[in-house]
Amino acid sequence: MVATMHRLAAAMLVLLCCCCLFLATQQQQLQPAAGGNRASPSCIPHERDALLAFKHGVTSDRRGVLSSWRRDGRHDEQDCCRWRGVRCSNRTGHVHELRLGSTFPPDLLGCTIRADLLVGQISPSLLALDHLEHLDLSWNDLAGPTGSLPEFLGSLKNLKYLNLSGIPFYGGVPPQLGNLSRLQYLDLSNLMGGTNSTDLSWLTHIPSIQYLNLDGVNLSTVADWPRVMNMLPSLRALHLSGCSLASANQSLPYLNLTNLEELDASANSFHHPMVTSWFWNITSLRFLYLSDTSMYGQFPDALGDMTSLQVLDLSNNYCLYDYHDDNKNMHSMITNLKNLCNLEVLKLECTLLYGDVAELFRNLPLCSPNKLQELDLGWNHLTGMLPRWMGQFMSLVVLDLGRNYITGHVPYEMGKLSNLTHLDLKRNKLDGTITEEHFASARSLQYIDLSYNALKIEISSDWQPPSTLEYVLFASCQMGPPFPGWLQWNVSITDLDISSAGIADRIPQWFSDAFSNVEFMNISNNQLNGTLPADMGSMSLLSLYLSSNKLTGQIPTLPPNIHTLDLSNNFLSGPLPSATRSTNLRYLSLFSNRLTGHIPESFCKYQQLIVLDLSNNFLEGEPPLCLGVKEYMEFVALSNNSLSGKFPSFLQNLTNVFFLDLSWNKFSGRLPMWIESLTSLRVIQLSHNKFFGSIPMNITNLSRLQYMDLNNNKISGSLPIYLSNLKFMTNVYMIVCYDGRDGIDSHFNSLFMAWKGQELNYGSIQRIVETCMMIIDLSSNNITGQIPEEIVALVGLVNLNLSRNHLTGVIPKKIGEMRSLQSLDLSRNMLSGEIPATLSNLTFLSYLELSYNDLTGRIPSGVQLDTLYAEYPSMYIGNVGLCGHPLQKQLLERASCTKAGWPGKN
Ligand SMILES: *[C@@H]1O[C@H](CO)[C@@H](O)[C@H](O)[C@H]1NC(C)=O
Ligand SMILES: *[C@@H]1O[C@H](CO)[C@@H](O)[C@H](O)[C@H]1NC(C)=O
Ligand SMILES: *[C@@H]1O[C@H](CO)[C@@H](O)[C@H](O)[C@H]1NC(C)=O
Ligand SMILES: *[C@@H]1O[C@H](CO)[C@@H](O)[C@H](O)[C@H]1NC(C)=O
Ligand SMILES: *[C@@H]1O[C@H](CO)[C@@H](O)[C@H](O)[C@H]1NC(C)=O
Ligand SMILES: *[C@@H]1O[C@H](CO)[C@@H](O)[C@H](O)[C@H]1NC(C)=O
Ligand SMILES: *[C@@H]1O[C@H](CO)[C@@H](O)[C@H](O)[C@H]1NC(C)=O
Ligand SMILES: *[C@@H]1O[C@H](CO)[C@@H](O)[C@H](O)[C@H]1NC(C)=O
Repeated sequence: MVATMHRLAAAMLVLLCCCCLFLATQQQQLQPAAGGNRASPSCIPHERDALLAFKHGVTSDRRGVLSSWRRDGRHDEQDCCRWRGVRCSNRTGHVHELRLGSTFPPDLLGCTIRADLLVGQISPSLLALDHLEHLDLSWNDLAGPTGSLPEFLGSLKNLKYLNLSGIPFYGGVPPQLGNLSRLQYLDLSNLMGGTNSTDLSWLTHIPSIQYLNLDGVNLSTVADWPRVMNMLPSLRALHLSGCSLASANQSLPYLNLTNLEELDASANSFHHPMVTSWFWNITSLRFLYLSDTSMYGQFPDALGDMTSLQVLDLSNNYCLYDYHDDNKNMHSMITNLKNLCNLEVLKLECTLLYGDVAELFRNLPLCSPNKLQELDLGWNHLTGMLPRWMGQFMSLVVLDLGRNYITGHVPYEMGKLSNLTHLDLKRNKLDGTITEEHFASARSLQYIDLSYNALKIEISSDWQPPSTLEYVLFASCQMGPPFPGWLQWNVSITDLDISSAGIADRIPQWFSDAFSNVEFMNISNNQLNGTLPADMGSMSLLSLYLSSNKLTGQIPTLPPNIHTLDLSNNFLSGPLPSATRSTNLRYLSLFSNRLTGHIPESFCKYQQLIVLDLSNNFLEGEPPLCLGVKEYMEFVALSNNSLSGKFPSFLQNLTNVFFLDLSWNKFSGRLPMWIESLTSLRVIQLSHNKFFGSIPMNITNLSRLQYMDLNNNKISGSLPIYLSNLKFMTNVYMIVCYDGRDGIDSHFNSLFMAWKGQELNYGSIQRIVETCMMIIDLSSNNITGQIPEEIVALVGLVNLNLSRNHLTGVIPKKIGEMRSLQSLDLSRNMLSGEIPATLSNLTFLSYLELSYNDLTGRIPSGVQLDTLYAEYPSMYIGNVGLCGHPLQKQLLERASCTKAGWPGKN
């Protein structure tokens, strides 16, 4: 869903940019601190000393978790049994429990600075607490200087509970932990992924273990993990997510694990058929998590007998790839799950599920009472029609059938699902009309996504839904022409996407009021006319997309927190909005309007701008010097205005800018030397301005440059040397070169991800960038001197245009090495000498223009060149000294060659 994508991208940005800040402000939730029992004897002195020694190992405790741990103070303050996190036996006074763990928001993984937690090391003094049964130090930064998980913990023989999760340890898990023979609960989950174990046999010395969590511990070399686990008969919960396990493909002669209720083997790449996994006989399982395991093939029949199952997650297997034609990977849902009466959650999105959706529903449990609450079948290949009787799954809360090939109408019976909060049918082939009846009993619905079907929404404007809708996503549904009035009664909407909905109307009066809670709004690609609401500044919008409408009038004051604004492709006029409050703006796209005036100085307040696209307007004057901030700005497009002044110096320190388009303006002056410091530049488009002077030699230091267009300026001087420094162009990328895997530029990817699906002015440029199409166009300038032979190093170049300059000398002999060239224009220069024979090696060449030079001699032969000539017979014209085939077939003035290769008289 577009909305989620945007939020995700935005969230990622926030995370990436200000991760640490974010964390620092997170409220750390300590587990309930416990004082001593009032009746308990005061603590045992040597245990108190051990605790104080532990405290000594803690170098930072910003939240004062251990502030009650003191040697001085009143008598009762010295009682360590009353210290925070310490619990003693009320009989013996021995310390039994140390609870210093903190729960940490699991969605903020990967950030390493957690300065407000306990920092330091785990002191071996804990060994003095020989009655300790419960030790929880989770989510503190207690890895110490060595970073390794201390072996001595294996000597705390009375431990029943040990939680070291989230401590950023590195290296091996010590087998000494196997000495903790009374352990029932062990959590070593390491979300930093720094620890590993090559041999798990130490676990078999802990037969009493019930809960084992090794999430994120690298177990890639432990092939026999199922056998080891099978020797832990008390096990109730086993978590092995993200352990780099190589396979679950093992058969066990006898299954010991009769108590196992929870198994999480997600995020391991098994790459084998689902049926051959070892765990399908464990009928005690209630929770089975197998997402992201790359298992394929049929679902095992045994699944139908796992009647205890409450949650089954098989999602995200082969989601990203299109295995359409790869039959072995298809899953078809013939397995009968009718007996799984306890099933509450079934997650099968992105599992290559094929088949008829109605048949699938027929295989789902419909027991009494009916417990199925969540059904995720999105992003599969389901076909057929939604059955009417699906209204019988009355307990459904979440239903996701998006991104399938489901046809037909949406049955009215869907509206009977009174507990349904989340309905996702986007990107199917549904048709027909959605009416009020579809929501008749939908008392709980909060999230509805019907986008990208062939649906028509016919709901009267006074209809009020029985629920409080928050996400209304009807992109590409037919809702107009009048603006859908019923939306005004849904003041709780936060995300609204009614783009491409055939709305041809004014923005309604009630817009700002009724949508005052909306944060994400996309109404682009409609025919909205009239003006933007003057009181838009009172809205809560974070992202607003209104591109490709017919809006007129001025841009009013923007909502204060907005970070994405796309008003491109309208008829907006007047000045750019002055930035008063909306300083969070990151993406601003106003291209193709009728905006006039200067870019105001106040734009400098947009210190977080990443994308600025003001192309195709009537803007004039010089852009302010202070525009943009180095850490953010990546995309600057100001083309096709009347902007003037020198090459804008606001760009000077914006070293993250990868896209710069100043074309079709009135910029003048020299290209600055500092242009070489814009090291991220990939696309520089300066054509149709009045730049003069020479091209800064060091422009070739821009090693990422792939697109340089300076055509139609007054550039003089010679071509830059060291062209082979344009490293990017010395590579040949035949396929997509930024596919997110090679890590060439994650900035770039996240940027376009954020804009995917939106009208981006640079649709074609985006393609150029994505496919790494490489171009140099310096045509129509006053460039003199020779074409450096070194240019042939740019083997990735697809289009080279040096025409209409004053170049002299010869065409580089080895030009045939530029094997990606599709278009070569050297016309209207003063190039002399022969046309290099290697030119005929350029098999991709589909355009060649050499006319009006002083080229001489025999034209090289070759099928490719002949074909081109047939298409562009003027490509050699104006070179009096050329001769030979194919010219001789042609006009009078052209001649055949003499023996010496000069034109002779006919
Ligand atoms: C000790 O505490 C336990 C649990 O709180 C309680 O059941 C028991 O009665 C207490 N024993 C004494 C001697 O206070
Ligand atoms: C385990 O971690 C240690 C320390 O980082 C490393 O030297 C070793 O190679 C790792 N072993 C495996 C199998 O990854
Ligand atoms: C079952 O568990 C017991 C106790 O750990 C162990 O001795 C036995 O070998 C296990 N059986 C199998 C087949 O692994
Ligand atoms: C699991 O069940 C299959 C068939 O139901 C059987 O062949 C296999 O022996 C069983 N495995 C164990 C370990 O019980
Ligand atoms: C709907 O939800 C309510 C409240 O959670 C619950 O009591 C009721 O049983 C649910 N209805 C069905 C049919 O599951
Ligand atoms: C807005 O569009 C509607 C429907 O096309 C049309 O009737 C109305 O006149 C338009 N209003 C303006 C101000 O252009
Ligand atoms: C760019 O940075 C340099 C050094 O940090 C500074 O002196 C200069 O003023 C900056 N230029 C602009 C235009 O911000
Ligand atoms: C141009 O770049 C080279 C390094 O590639 C550097 O040595 C030289 O100083 C630069 N020249 C100017 C004028 O910046």
